[in-house]
Amino acid sequence: MIDGHASMIAADSGHDGAPLLRKQFHLDAGHGALRQATLRQTFLGIGETTINGAPASPEVLAPGWSSYEWRLRYTTLDVTDLISQTNVIVLALGNGWYRGHLCAFGTKAVYGAELAAWAQLDLVFQDGHTQQVVTDLSWRSGPSAITANDLYHGQTIDARLHDRRCYQTDFDDKQWEGVHRVDFDPGRLTPTTAQQPVIRQQELPPGRIFHSPSGKTLIDFGQNMVGWVRLAVQGDAGSVITLRHAEVLENGELGVRPLRTARATDRFILSGGQDTFEPTFTFHGFRYVEVDGWPGDITPEALRAVVIGSDLQRTGLFECSDPMLNQLHANIVWGMRGNFVSLPTDCPARDERLGWTGDLAVFTPAACFLFDVNDFLREWLHDLVAEQDHHGGIVPLVVPDALKYEDRKNVPPLETVPMFCDAAVWVPWAHWQAYGNRAVLEDQFGSMTTHTRLVRAALSPTGLWDTGFQLGDWLDPQAPPDEPLLSKADKGVVSTACAYRSATHTAQAAAILGLTSEQEEFTAMAAELRRAYNTHYVNDGHITSDCATVYAQAIELDLLDDDDRAKAGHRLSELVRENDYRISTGFIGTPLITDALTNTGHLDDAYRLLLQRECPSWLYPVTMGATTIWERWDAMLPDGSINPGEMTSFNHYALGAVADWMHRTIGGLAPAAPGYQRILVRPRPGGGLTHATTTLQTPHGLAAVEWRRHGETLTVTATIPEGCTAQVDLPHSTPQEVGPGTHTHSIDYPAGDEDALSK
Ligand code: BGC
Repeated sequence: MIDGHASMIAADSGHDGAPLLRKQFHLDAGHGALRQATLRQTFLGIGETTINGAPASPEVLAPGWSSYEWRLRYTTLDVTDLISQTNVIVLALGNGWYRGHLCAFGTKAVYGAELAAWAQLDLVFQDGHTQQVVTDLSWRSGPSAITANDLYHGQTIDARLHDRRCYQTDFDDKQWEGVHRVDFDPGRLTPTTAQQPVIRQQELPPGRIFHSPSGKTLIDFGQNMVGWVRLAVQGDAGSVITLRHAEVLENGELGVRPLRTARATDRFILSGGQDTFEPTFTFHGFRYVEVDGWPGDITPEALRAVVIGSDLQRTGLFECSDPMLNQLHANIVWGMRGNFVSLPTDCPARDERLGWTGDLAVFTPAACFLFDVNDFLREWLHDLVAEQDHHGGIVPLVVPDALKYEDRKNVPPLETVPMFCDAAVWVPWAHWQAYGNRAVLEDQFGSMTTHTRLVRAALSPTGLWDTGFQLGDWLDPQAPPDEPLLSKADKGVVSTACAYRSATHTAQAAAILGLTSEQEEFTAMAAELRRAYNTHYVNDGHITSDCATVYAQAIELDLLDDDDRAKAGHRLSELVRENDYRISTGFIGTPLITDALTNTGHLDDAYRLLLQRECPSWLYPVTMGATTIWERWDAMLPDGSINPGEMTSFNHYALGAVADWMHRTIGGLAPAAPGYQRILVRPRPGGGLTHATTTLQTPHGLAAVEWRRHGETLTVTATIPEGCTAQVDLPHSTPQEVGPGTHTHSIDYPAGDEDALSK
């Protein structure tokens, strides 16, 4: 337990780089062996702890990024094995999100100007005696070998400065300076609900080392990823190796324009002896590295790309007979790994890396399937609530809300924005569907109702959500590269549908929680919105602005009566066909369109859309060698040049939301009740695929659906975990109820008949 003895302490000298805080202590004598040593720690900044020279935990970038103003996470570590009779603890502090650059406007140190640490080490002895070591004024402070560090710009390490003796107990730290207390409210200390720290996950060797046309040395690691490069090298003392990172090449050179102001440059100054460098107080989104100043020839063994990410358990797998779709799925997984680094971000490479609410709002269903993000998302939602409370109920566009520190003229206005702010409802609702964890609805219900009531307050007298700042169907591929706001879809249509969705889910959540009056309130709100939507925007199945997004949304959110729904499905299929099965939808329409086609009898169109390879399409980036999901369909143009727009990230998960459809419709594995207590086995094979295997570690155990087409026969094998039931709903067949165990069914399924079978 935290008992209030520890102070938040900072080094007396600012140390622009990464200061070290040091404490030496002996175990109390005469109490027998040490039974348990527990370290609780956190940082204003990011920090790493060593005890007697060994890392206290595998965590990097600790304590991650949360809404620091109200919630500073601390970690609890069992460090018993690291403790000796005489001990030295050293804490290294980096700028991280706290004092480094955040956002695109050069803003720095938005949370505070001073790096600090808080630690409480509790020691329990054999005879029950306890001893405590806490951060206080007895600690000493000194410099480290890190002379600069920034998440966007990179890190500089001067190995000549590295006095390793400070990690040993015979080091005399009297020559070091003192520390002082930093004003800090311990009420902000928040235990991590998720023991899912950012860790090193994987190492990749250089795939190819080569020279660019201008003579630069480049390394291709073969995978767009997030982390850094560790290197081992020996060279002249004082010589400098520089590593610049980028996600892509352009004209054979490092393509750094998409990084905007992020310098993504690490510098290593050699000691003259054998050096190992690992820049753990920064991270980069990269596949390529440009190396300058390497002494002699680079040997591949000397470098490793270190992949970092939150320590999430992989739960959902998908594999099918089409290698392109498998690559698309792998790209979605890599996109998620690179953007679930302490918080869910839009992208990991440029000067942004923010918790954009809209991106997560559409990606949550896919995320919940691919990895266990039950705790991870709840942690983020707690930050959302903290920020929302601070803004009088308005959900900010990014959580944690770093934009509130920017000059308002640089950033969108603080108001309730469709889709983005709706994350307050859509994320917990998707989480509930995936995990059946009632606590998420209980915790979030206040936030959901506050948000949905603000939406109601924003409606026009007509009952439509057609005024105020809106990002609309963000990144419509037909919008000009520098004006992603200019979507074909009418903003009022799109936003009113978002409002309807939020009102509906809030009413459903109220029903689950047994809150009758709120259930009535939001059911009535949803009914009003549906009426207004139909009155003003729907005319005989035709929806205002007549583009794919509005039909996909109306169909999938159930905004239409049966007659209009069938017509809308027909029109959607027509539009998709007229556009030659290329994507014409933005952030709103893209996650919905394959479902909308499938559910209105146009399965074949859904497959054709998914399998299109010409730009814009899901598979176009795959044809261009992509290993992650891009922000724009044409982030890289067919001639290999980079899209001229301002926003051209090559690692953006939002458009990977289609994985959810792949799991449910190609794979045939969907929740029929929250948390997969009841499972819907409903594969809809098509697109010429001959098999698919989809597995999910549900909260109840492993569920799997595997299907195979042999000639005109479709064989489906479903595995249902203990304690669960399933409905097996196969094409042309009466749905069957099954219980736990493995079940195999074979049916006739002639090729080329997908449309007729999609119902
Ligand atoms: C982000 C997007 C985000 C958008 C909203 C961008 O800069 O990268 O993913 O949704 O801004 O304005």
